Amino acid sequence: MRARLNPFVELAVGGDGTVVATIDGATVSAGEIGLKPLSTGAAKLVPELKSGLALDQLSAGEAASEEIERLIRRLAMQGLLEFALGHSREDDAVIIEPLIPGYWPRMPQLDDADLLALSRFAYVRRRGNELVIESPLADALIRICDAKIAAALVLLSSPQSLADLARREDFPGYELLALLVDCQILFKVDRARGDGLRTGEGDDSLILWDFHDLLFHTRSTQGRHANPLGSTCPYAGQIAPLPAVRPPWPGDKIALGDLAPAGEQDSAVTKVLHERLSTRVFDDQHPITLSEVARLLDAIARIRSKWDSTLHFGPSGPVVHFAKRPYPSGGASYPLELYLSVSKCDGLASGFYHYDADAHALVPIEVRQEEIDGLLLGASFATGASVSPQILITITARFGRVTWKYSSIAYALILKDVGVLMQTLYIMATDLGLGGCAIGTADINRFARMTGLAFHVEGPVGQFTIGRPTTSPAAGR
Ligand SMILES: Cc1cc2nc3c(=O)[nH]c(=O)nc-3n(C[C@H](O)[C@H](O)[C@H](O)COP(=O)(O)O)c2cc1C
Repeated sequence: MRARLNPFVELAVGGDGTVVATIDGATVSAGEIGLKPLSTGAAKLVPELKSGLALDQLSAGEAASEEIERLIRRLAMQGLLEFALGHSREDDAVIIEPLIPGYWPRMPQLDDADLLALSRFAYVRRRGNELVIESPLADALIRICDAKIAAALVLLSSPQSLADLARREDFPGYELLALLVDCQILFKVDRARGDGLRTGEGDDSLILWDFHDLLFHTRSTQGRHANPLGSTCPYAGQIAPLPAVRPPWPGDKIALGDLAPAGEQDSAVTKVLHERLSTRVFDDQHPITLSEVARLLDAIARIRSKWDSTLHFGPSGPVVHFAKRPYPSGGASYPLELYLSVSKCDGLASGFYHYDADAHALVPIEVRQEEIDGLLLGASFATGASVSPQILITITARFGRVTWKYSSIAYALILKDVGVLMQTLYIMATDLGLGGCAIGTADINRFARMTGLAFHVEGPVGQFTIGRPTTSPAAGR
């Protein structure tokens, strides 16, 4: 296994051992990415990172090797490195691109008796001129450079014992198989749990996920991929933007006429709807108060009633519990939970809280302050604000509430619920004289790190900032 710099990264070591990185032609200081000065012995190894430094060449206990390993881990954490299996750059068998900061290739012990199978979440596709194998479960993406490996993957679509695989002429090697097991692109079939098909892979929560839904979740959020994200307008130079208003269909129009002058006959709901806007700048001299937070949560998310049903299974079937909240939810599943990252709130200490919608209470969750700061910073970045929102609401989904029941449409239903809840938040915030803004991004890996909940069990599907708006109505726009 060799570690080497991504093609867009250059490293140079100064006379004093200082490491300077150039990323896409822009110089990045060592401090910015946490690179420590190197000794002369370690500095000598740095040029090898261009072509590929064999990891097994690093000797344990040797100072220069340990320094280089620290450097490699640091670069890997920043997504500046890739790993390769094969003899040379011209002869790579596979190239491993980390998708998660800090990814490090691991090779779990495999036994000849192990039954290996391709994960049902793994998929092969063309990317540019390359063939890649990916999985929403994997911490790295694998570029396949050798057609024999693709052939081995075909074989692994049904479980194979390692002993049988190793006897084949096209055996891809223990190292690669172990790597793929570590990335969950392959998995060890537990013979006691059946045939290696859907119910034999992973925990109950994973069994419930459809392939396209888990892929959609991991690729449309932050944290588990390395693709460009957000408003990047990648084809702005080639494809014109669509007009804001759809060109009308041909034919005679039936004019709907104008109502009375705006405001004269509007209902209270219409007024709130029309007053609603996104607020991105908040009045930090007069932060939102705990009682306003309580009123907001009570109005939008508190459980209103509970009941049990056997759905269409009849009396001997499983009992499904329901808990109704103020907004509508597909199938009355109510999968959404609210977590509050509090920066400034009168009467509530800054911290991270879960809203217990049954007890109408906030439950503090012990997490590292830097994680809360990271969440709040991400929200400021997404809204273009120079300071943190007073409160950031992270909307998570307990996916199993929906995936247990629905096939094909589960994740889409969850996102529709998020849209409904966002509008409910907007409307109620407006009614209470508060301000807020929906946010289109969420970091699912950070939330998993903060809470210890696996990303496929419960995780962020939306975010919303909330606080007291500044008095100038234009300030929020
Ligand atoms: C699903 C969704 C995601 C949004 N994401 C962001 C965001 O990430 N950053 C931001 O500043 N505004 C975001 N907005 C707010 C929109 O930019 C805003 O609703 C739109 O510009 C219309 O302005 P108004 O809400 O003031 O009427 C989002 C809105 C929605 C509904």
